[in-house]
Amino acid sequence: MRVSVIVPTYNEADNIVEVIDRLRRALSDQSHEIIVVDDDSPDGTWQVARHHGAGDPVVRVIRRIGERGLASAVLDGMAAAEGDALAVMDGDLQHDESVLPEMVRSVLDGGADVCVGSRIGESGSFGDRARLRHWLTAAGTALVRRLLPRLRRASDPLSGFFVVSRGLYERTAPRISRRLREYKILWAFLASRKDLSVTEVGYDFRPRGGGETKLSTAVLLDDLVNAVVLRLGRAVSPLFVKYCLVGATGVVVSLAVYGLGELAGLPTISLGITPDLNPIYVSALLGIQASIVTNFLANNFFTFYDRRYRRWGLLGGLLLFQAVSIVGVFVQLAVFQLLHRNGFPTSSTNADVAAAVNNGIGLAVATLTNFFLNVSITWNRVRGSG
Ligand code: GDD
Ligand code: MN
Repeated sequence: MRVSVIVPTYNEADNIVEVIDRLRRALSDQSHEIIVVDDDSPDGTWQVARHHGAGDPVVRVIRRIGERGLASAVLDGMAAAEGDALAVMDGDLQHDESVLPEMVRSVLDGGADVCVGSRIGESGSFGDRARLRHWLTAAGTALVRRLLPRLRRASDPLSGFFVVSRGLYERTAPRISRRLREYKILWAFLASRKDLSVTEVGYDFRPRGGGETKLSTAVLLDDLVNAVVLRLGRAVSPLFVKYCLVGATGVVVSLAVYGLGELAGLPTISLGITPDLNPIYVSALLGIQASIVTNFLANNFFTFYDRRYRRWGLLGGLLLFQAVSIVGVFVQLAVFQLLHRNGFPTSSTNADVAAAVNNGIGLAVATLTNFFLNVSITWNRVRGSG
């Protein structure tokens, strides 16, 4: 078999028939198979594809149940593929199947390891894509190429349209860790080796057929964080990096609200719990509370985007996050007190420095504790649910 085309789909019932027909036509003069990898779309894409491909062995449909994610869908499709060249093309008519034969030739006959369908290189374009999205993609591309020199081999590294050789796939796939599975899968191939032969073919990015995009701006932001993580090395969890980024914005929010509260002359209150904690500044409490809410929202719609709470569910999520945050505040205080009372770092250290060091350690321990609690409680939900 010369070529397997993997078509990841989620809610593409309006487009999949046309996509399959166009691929069959474009590849009619070479042995090929079309593998639709659908994540059990609510609109029944897998059923539509199966029905349309019935009796034609060229069309294969994988219905994944209980899994969501573009990158992992592509990898599962590749694992099932039999072709010498493995192509990936979106199922919404945005990619131009008519350049696919040229891309396949470049890999199978020209000896390239990867051929990327490019909207940026020669003879490529974004078509009449929404301007903001175009601009964001261009900025993201520039940034990613700066961060990851190996991605510079392609003018359009964010592309979801590419062909890899079976050789490169077999060598690279076992090294794509679980964690890397949510990256742009093309990156794993482009970054795999130094001496890679990469070619590209330009094409016009078309407006999508029916339905709507699944990849929001949050996903683009996600890609940027993933680029940073890839740069730092595989030991770093992208989730944790995002969580810390959000935490940093929370510190800013909390300080801003605290400052405003002090300017407004908010009072202090005495709860009489422990002398160390008195008096309590109302503006500081408000600041912490404001940052808990903004951190929850930012984590929900960014860090844990794929398992986010929606609508009324947000209230339940906020409640859990609030509880975890309060645990975090106590962890931080406890660690601080423990260190401070025992004269850490040394009894001769300047008091302000010692306080700052101990606060920092408390904050770090609390951040880790909260991260694990939030992963295992607050956002321990099925991906893409409710
Ligand atoms: N199986 C599966 N699971 N397929 C998915 C999922 C998922 O969770 N999410 C999206 N898809 C499918 C869509 O059905 C579509 O066929 C393809 O993946 C791309 O998704 P779109 O929602 O159409 O993405 P886009 O058009 O916004 O983004 C395209 O351009 C980006 C760069 O601008 C894609 O080609 C991206 O890969 C690319 O980075
Ligand atoms: Mn699309």
